[in-house]
Amino acid sequence: MNIVLIGFMGTGKSAVGRVLARRTGWQHLDTDTEIERSVGKTIPEIFTELGEAAFRAQETAFLSSLAEVASVDSLILSTGGGTPLKAENAALLKRIGTVVWLHVASNAILARVAHSLHERPLLAAHHADPLGRIESLLAVREPQYAALADMILETSDCASSEEGAARLMERLALI
Ligand code: S3P
Repeated sequence: MNIVLIGFMGTGKSAVGRVLARRTGWQHLDTDTEIERSVGKTIPEIFTELGEAAFRAQETAFLSSLAEVASVDSLILSTGGGTPLKAENAALLKRIGTVVWLHVASNAILARVAHSLHERPLLAAHHADPLGRIESLLAVREPQYAALADMILETSDCASSEEGAARLMERLALI
């Protein structure tokens, strides 16, 4: 079994994935980290220097290479907030594992990303009204997350990634 974590920026995909890996002993991969490593640049640098389309192409290339490895098992994959939006990526994520959408309400997302807007290319230019920007992106993205997810995990009220991971393990009967 593999677990694929999807959801908006700031919903804890990376942090919950790390905790889950520690508690299960499974391998953890993070698409953003893998892309940063393979390109040799940070996400903001990739967006600024190469453009969003190049970043999205990197996401697809990474997922394709992972989906080709038929022996992948006991893997937790944390994705970027925009990864599942491309149909090709969505199909690859489904092939890789059980897709879990970490759902967080917009005001809770804002509280979690407020300190790091400058590191998030899709929010950085919207510091005057970050909640408006988050809500307009969510309006487009949430139906797509919902269509892809095998499971929706409400984590708006989770105070920590430990709590989110524990809730997920309980739902997946991993404990
Ligand atoms: C993005 C989310 C980011 C990162 C990039 C684009 C998005 O990942 O992939 O900045 O389109 O929502 P996180 O969701 O891990 O912040």
